[in-house]
Amino acid sequence: MKNILFASSECVPFIKTGGLADVVGSLPKYFDKDKYDVRVVLPKYNCMFQKWKDMMEYVDHFYMELAGEDRYVGIMTCEYEGIRFYFIDNEYYFNGFAPYDGDPKWNIEKFAFFSKAVLSILPVIGFRPDLIHCHDWQTGLIPVYLDNFRYLGEYYRGIKSIMTIHNLKFQGVWDRETVQAITGLPDYYFVPDKMEAYKDANLLKGGIVYADKVTTVSQTYAEEIKTPFYGEALDGLMNARSNDLCGIVNGLDYDDYNPEKDSRIVKNFNVGDFRKLKPMNKAALQEELGLDRDPKAMMIGMVSRLTDQKGFDLVDYMMDELCQDAVQIVVLGTGEAKYENMFRHFAWKYSGKVSANIFYSEDLSHKIYASCDAFLMPSLFEPCGLSQLMSLRYGTLPIVRETGGLKDTVQPYNEYEKTGTGFSFANYNAHEMLNTVRYAEHIYYDRKRDWNKMVERAMEEDFSWGNSAIQYQNLYASLIGE
Ligand code: ADP
Ligand code: GLC
Repeated sequence: MKNILFASSECVPFIKTGGLADVVGSLPKYFDKDKYDVRVVLPKYNCMFQKWKDMMEYVDHFYMELAGEDRYVGIMTCEYEGIRFYFIDNEYYFNGFAPYDGDPKWNIEKFAFFSKAVLSILPVIGFRPDLIHCHDWQTGLIPVYLDNFRYLGEYYRGIKSIMTIHNLKFQGVWDRETVQAITGLPDYYFVPDKMEAYKDANLLKGGIVYADKVTTVSQTYAEEIKTPFYGEALDGLMNARSNDLCGIVNGLDYDDYNPEKDSRIVKNFNVGDFRKLKPMNKAALQEELGLDRDPKAMMIGMVSRLTDQKGFDLVDYMMDELCQDAVQIVVLGTGEAKYENMFRHFAWKYSGKVSANIFYSEDLSHKIYASCDAFLMPSLFEPCGLSQLMSLRYGTLPIVRETGGLKDTVQPYNEYEKTGTGFSFANYNAHEMLNTVRYAEHIYYDRKRDWNKMVERAMEEDFSWGNSAIQYQNLYASLIGE
């Protein structure tokens, strides 16, 4: 039996801001239980729902030095859906209204604390992992501390680590002196072939340099980040580590996202009866959101963090033109004020046609995936993307830009060969996007049979974790044996 510890800043159902939480909350369930004991460690945020905090039991506490002071490290635990979770408790660091509340420097200190605490709790909880699987910059210091802790004695020697990059844009960068004062790490680590990048200290870079293997969440993104356009100034490092870098596409929790069983949607459906039943969801959503009650209107959905990454400047540019067409547009998201206000504006200007829901809602997200005809995701870059996988599962055809995981998971429609599960365009260009949406409209309105065949193919795709979990297992085996 091999022991694996996932370390992450978010995880469904306890705390979520994006796809990272979906991945960390579902992947551990799909490993071979006879071979792997996979556990997960997270911060215990004050902003978690009380329901989850009530489930946790106190294990122990101790003090650990960080930023020149002794800090309280509380350990809480619970079991959920067969997985053992640990939570690191410290009210000074984890009391914000959201996981990443506060300025960048504060977040660096917060997650430096978390990373050091993850290693420090291991002897206390009596779980010595053979491998620690780290996710994103918030855990980038774990492989670095692991290297540093080797000098403390036998216990930490030989523990392997993997760094998974869910989004290279976020790296945890601050000036070297401050990061050194916070982490207490020696000068040795603050040089350009270790944690230093462009004179600053870079936590994700530390993780990439010190992890035994580096992965990202789709094959295309694994290639893209070796180029200057997607490399976020670390493309040199990604090339240098390319022998240890691979892309493993994300899966979905097929229990949580299941149109046949989903209790959040008005009418359950499957690949056999969606023609009749899926439109009932659309009708209910039109009613709920105050859109024109038109069962025939093509409804296009977006559920997303409202950031530049997701291509909303293209949407802004084309929205007036798009709204001349026979379409309805439903948005659910929060993020940058400029995009929140843009969607509010269009919802006002085209009321009855455009619905802007500027908040976070698990319920509404499922209703949108289930109700819409198409899902728009014109990302500038997309490491994997889960929303398009959710859409496919609910027979809502994705319209995407061919980048990262979108390219790897959505097969563009080919009207001659009658293949494909969605629509895509290559260049980050507003007119290309609009043309592609209009092509989708044409198929939806004028070739309904072909459209419905595509819905069938989309719903029959398999993006459950099975295959990708095996790829992770093989990667683990390459480091720690079977
Ligand atoms: P990212 O992680 O870059 O935000 P993904 O597509 O991987 O993008 O994952 C986004 C996840 O967050 C999906 O599960 C999506 O449904 C969810 N999500 C994003 N915004 C909202 C929102 N406002 N309300 C509910 N769920 C949301
Ligand atoms: C990041 C990426 C997204 C990916 C998610 C989970 O948030 O932006 O593309 O699906 O992580 O890996």
